Amino acid sequence: MTTLDVLKAKYLEGIAAAADEASLEEIRLAALGKKGEISLKMRELGQMTPEERTTTGAALNRLKDEIDAALRAKKEALADAALDARLKSEWLDVTLPGRPRRAGTIHPVSQVMDEVTAIFADMGFAVAEGPQVESDWYNFDALNIAPEHPARQEHDTFFMARDAADPRPPHVLRTHTSPVQIRAMQAKGAPIRVIAPGRVYRMDMDQTHAPMFHQVEGLAIGRDISMANLKWVLEEFCKTFFEVPSVELRFRASHFPFTEPSAEVDIRCSWEGGQLKIGEGNSWLEILGSGMVHPKVLAAGGIDPNEYQGFAFGVGIDRIAMLKYGIPDLRAFFESDLRWLKHYGFAALDLPTVFGGLSK
Ligand code: PHE
Repeated sequence: MTTLDVLKAKYLEGIAAAADEASLEEIRLAALGKKGEISLKMRELGQMTPEERTTTGAALNRLKDEIDAALRAKKEALADAALDARLKSEWLDVTLPGRPRRAGTIHPVSQVMDEVTAIFADMGFAVAEGPQVESDWYNFDALNIAPEHPARQEHDTFFMARDAADPRPPHVLRTHTSPVQIRAMQAKGAPIRVIAPGRVYRMDMDQTHAPMFHQVEGLAIGRDISMANLKWVLEEFCKTFFEVPSVELRFRASHFPFTEPSAEVDIRCSWEGGQLKIGEGNSWLEILGSGMVHPKVLAAGGIDPNEYQGFAFGVGIDRIAMLKYGIPDLRAFFESDLRWLKHYGFAALDLPTVFGGLSK
């Protein structure tokens, strides 16, 4: 073997065995660098005879080209291998399911408002609205509650401030949705069939009362609308709302200044092991106030009581929401206590970042 054959074998083996670019560079410098073995041999050509120079020179050039080509090929192979490795490690499984996004949920009161509205819409009731800051006249006088009437005190009214010099009675935070009866009658006249869901306010606060709560008012006025119609409408409503095949309602004689006669309505239910069941059992639960609209109220709404009559009712939404979903106190609603809402199936799942480690 000639010296050049030995060199060639050494370098090509080295190149084949190189594991990375840095080792390739070392080999290149050792062979072809300024002080590389091949370069030094090139320099020796000067001391050779012309014949020697021709053959050795050509052989050296071939060797140089071969090593050069081998280096380049190996460099490319290393780059390919690196790319392969990267593609393998960065592999993306596009068939994985997406990460779930937290979604909010509807508050039980809003949900029940929607349910109630939908049920009455099916029975032909449109939705009416009124302001929450209401005049004394709409909240009381028009509803046949005179200034000295004890009902004004019973309602635990929040009064808005007025200038000391202003002789007019102060506005109030409406204590019930009944003023919307008057506004709806004034706006649409008779016949009329509306419900009015909304917020109402009374100075009251305990486990089952809050200073702000929700009611749905119902009003149906026509030429011959009777208590029998009231009874049917309320029964249909309760069956649908509480999702039971039948309900039994008890009409208990009562008094509201704006209805005559007036009735509080109870629903038959049972309590077994703390579990409330609507529609069966030996207990009664009060769910609403109702009656035939008082002639003076019709007149205040601009409707002739000699031509028209009808019924009205008022249901506490928070109350029927608690009954339907078995929520025993108002914390769930008014403090938006997540543990409670969650317990009853209303809270958004997984809120640990904001509210700190609620367990599922
Ligand atoms: N407004 C009454 C209340 O808040 C309820 C009611 C409405 C009663 C309509 C009769 C008719 O207690």
